[in-house]
This record gives sequence, C-alpha cells and structure tokens, in this order.
Amino acid sequence: MPDLRLSGKELLAWRSQELTRGGTAQDLDWLLVLSGALALGDLQLLFIDRDRIVCMKRSLAEMQALWKQYLEQNVPLQHLAGLCPWRDLMLEVGPVALIPRQESEVLLDLALAIPRSAPIGRWADLGTGSGALAISLAKAWPKAAGHAVDQSAQALALAERNFRRCRLSRSCQLHQGSWWQPLSPWFGAFDLVLSNPPYIPSGLINDLHPTVRDHEPRLALDGGADGLDCIRTIIAGAVQALAPGGWLLLEHHHDHSQRVLTLLHEAGLSDVGSGADLTGTVRFAKACRALDGVETDQTQVSQ
Ligand SMILES: C[S@@+](CC[C@H](N)C(=O)[O-])C[C@H]1O[C@@H](n2cnc3c(N)ncnc32)[C@H](O)[C@@H]1O
Repeated sequence: MPDLRLSGKELLAWRSQELTRGGTAQDLDWLLVLSGALALGDLQLLFIDRDRIVCMKRSLAEMQALWKQYLEQNVPLQHLAGLCPWRDLMLEVGPVALIPRQESEVLLDLALAIPRSAPIGRWADLGTGSGALAISLAKAWPKAAGHAVDQSAQALALAERNFRRCRLSRSCQLHQGSWWQPLSPWFGAFDLVLSNPPYIPSGLINDLHPTVRDHEPRLALDGGADGLDCIRTIIAGAVQALAPGGWLLLEHHHDHSQRVLTLLHEAGLSDVGSGADLTGTVRFAKACRALDGVETDQTQVSQ
C-alpha cells in the first residue's frame, strides 16, 4: 500500500468528528496506528504541532468504514487491523481463532518460571489458536521440541502463518486433532504442557459481549455445560503424556479454581498449585507428574 500524506489539522478534525459517533479516543488511536499504519510518535506530536504532515497507509474514508464496523457491528479492533500485539510479538489475527488475551501472558510467565533441574526437552500447547503461547515457548526454548495442537484446521493455518511471521517455523510441529490424540507417539516425554482451553459454560455464551460472542469462534469459547469438559479431558490424559517430573499448566474460568485443583489431585498429579492474573483473580492451575517413586504432593498458591 502506498503512503498517503495528509495534514495534521485534517487528521485531528477527522478524529474529533469520528469520536462524536461513539467509542473512545484510545480505541480510535489504536485503529489509526495498527490499521492505518500511522506512527504513534507522529500522532502524539500532532497534539503539539497541528501543522505537521503525517503518512498513513489507508485513506480517511477507509478508516471511517472500519471505525463504523467497530461501532455498529462490534467487530473487534484486532480483526479490523488483522493484527494483535501480544507480549513482544505482533500476530496476525482473524475470526478463525481467539484473539490472544493479556491474561494468557501470565500463563506463559508461569510456564517459563517452572522450577526444573534440566532444560525442557519437549513441550506442547494444547488448543494453540493463533499460536501466541506456542510461539513464545519456541522463542524461549529454541533447542526443545515443540508441539502445537488444535482441532480447527483454520486456526492451525493461522498459527502456521504466525510462526512464519516470527521466523520460528522450524521450532514447532503443528498437529490437527483433539487435545492429546495427535501427540500419542511422544506420550511419557513431555516436560511441560500448557493449555488455554475453551472454558466458558455453554449457558453463559449468549451473555458474552457481542464483540466476543458474535466474532470469536464458539469452538474457542464453549467449555460445555459446566465449562470444564475440555479441562477434564486434558487433565485425564496428563499422567500418561507427561514425563516424570513434567508439568501441566492450565488457564481456566474465574470461578473454577477449586474444581480444577480437585481434578488435578484426583488425576494423581503432584505439586498442585494455582496462580492469579494481573487483577488478582485466580485463573491458572499447575501440577506435575511425580518423579517415579517420589511423592511430593502439596498444594501451593503462587502470585
Ligand atoms: C481459548 S482458545 C485459546 C487459543 C490460544 N491458545 C490463546 O491462548 O489465545 C482455545 C483453542 O482450543 C481449540 N480447541 C477447541 N476444542 C479443541 C479440541 N478438542 N482439541 C484441540 N483444540 C481444541 C480452539 O480451536 C481454540 O483455538
């Protein structure tokens, strides 16, 4: 796309006009930067010097059409831009997979902080979606063998494009299938597995904000009647799939902590613990397969 040059005065007048339709300046500026390719620094300088000339990749008419889709159809800003910044990554996103959420950055931090006596040799991300978590693990552990699984072929194709975008294509195998099923050749060898599975109880899906309910895939959201269907399946397979001393880390619904911890205990996993997101809500659970012959069962709460 060619650069379009326009005056700061014209852009700021357009911005004020568009904000009378609704939305926040923060959201509109986010769209101008990520979809219009307006440099954030240029936008900030306009508030000091309105006479500056700025460059954009889209015309104001195109930007207006996108902004109207956001306001009138609740299309997520990330879908309109086709991009989402997540940690240190800039990922392609779209309606085929969940937009990676900020709270899942904490799930990744928990995974990277797991205490271990040897380097991670093999890891997996179950329900990879856009690939955000898997790409970050591949960056963190370049020598380990990585596996990313998703039921959705379209989500997996998106994850593959994101791996290419981040120049990490060779560091992870992508598998289409259900949870552990494509990973059976490596059962007993996983040092770490994480998952942010669908966990919204089916009855609550209709109450979600339209931005989520109408634009993100139900396969990424719906966790069955009580929201725990996928988590039960993942926990049930963990003892067989994990290596001795290997860890499972899960993201879950904000009021499921106790039930997930119980499921982890009942599955015979050790060192069962939980973690909180940045607002202090407990949304993560972790547990490990005991080293053969070693009982280390104790419940821990971190963060
Ligand atoms: C909540 S999204 C998480 C996506 C991504 N990991 C993230 O954190 O942004 C859950 C993902 O699980 C996938 N999924 C749903 N059912 C699955 C199944 N039976 N087996 C594997 N993946 C599944 C969905 O397609 C979706 O990509």
